[in-house]
Amino acid sequence: MTQSRTRISKAVIPAAGLGTRFLPATKATPKEMLPVVDKPAIQYVVEEAVTAGLSDVLMVTGRNKRPLEDHFDRNYELEEALTRKGDETRLARVQESSDLATMHYVRQGDPRGLGHAVLCAAPHVGDQPFAVLLGDDLIDARDPLLARMVDIQERHGGSVIALMEVDPAQIHLYGCAAVKPTVEDDVVQVTGLIEKPDPADAPSNYAVIGRYVLDPAVFGVLRETEPGRGGEIQLTDALQALASSPDLGGPVHGVVFKGRRYDTGDRGDYLRAIVRLACEREDLGPEFREWLRSYVTEEM
Ligand code: UTP
Repeated sequence: MTQSRTRISKAVIPAAGLGTRFLPATKATPKEMLPVVDKPAIQYVVEEAVTAGLSDVLMVTGRNKRPLEDHFDRNYELEEALTRKGDETRLARVQESSDLATMHYVRQGDPRGLGHAVLCAAPHVGDQPFAVLLGDDLIDARDPLLARMVDIQERHGGSVIALMEVDPAQIHLYGCAAVKPTVEDDVVQVTGLIEKPDPADAPSNYAVIGRYVLDPAVFGVLRETEPGRGGEIQLTDALQALASSPDLGGPVHGVVFKGRRYDTGDRGDYLRAIVRLACEREDLGPEFREWLRSYVTEEM
């Protein structure tokens, strides 16, 4: 078991999925590049990692990796044009994403599942605990979750996953955790995990959401993990192995999240994220809210 006291500094962002729920938009563009108001979803995720103190970011990319790499790189032509125009505000917006973090990339090749995507990070991560943030899962910046997970991992060792209570009828859409309470209200011990269970077999209504802080022992387990549900190597299956054998990589804890979260890979949630974040923006919000109010009253 790795009981490291080194501060966690590496974040892995899997962004190599096919994004089939969003076709045709994702035919030639990764779903993580779809804009939420005026920033691609992935930029919110990288900002979240940096805010939690993780500025070394490894992105696991797939067949359409170019737009992701370009977004976090400099764009000299655009910067030059905006400098010539004296447009400081837009210049700052362009430079924001390239100055954010130290970015690294690894190619997944075939999208063989989230567990396989995480395994692609092993050479970069080495033997330290690390965070995983799903590139299509957006956690509202006002409801910090990752820093709390890092804190729990540093205190207890092992791995930490993020859980959210969902309507029991919806649990078949998520990984589901069997849990025991701890002395802390928002922390549970995870005793088992099952990927997308039938509601009748679900041990709880605690759904796994897209933030993890993992012990590097997960890599050894993933190497042994056979393809599971959907023929994919499931991270949930590897976490189930860790949860049921704490001597492999320490305990698995869950932080129960009660804040705002959007699955931007789902069309309905994507639309809700845009409307909510646009309403709350200082620059766009007042006018957009006014329009929305009249739209709802007059047209719905
Ligand atoms: P999803 O389960 O949302 O799958 O992946 P998907 O293929 O991206 O999207 P749909 O269901 O076809 O619309 C969850 C996360 O895991 C990543 C995805 O990019 C997403 O962030 N992932 C999934 C990989 O990086 N590689 C994979 O092989 C599978």
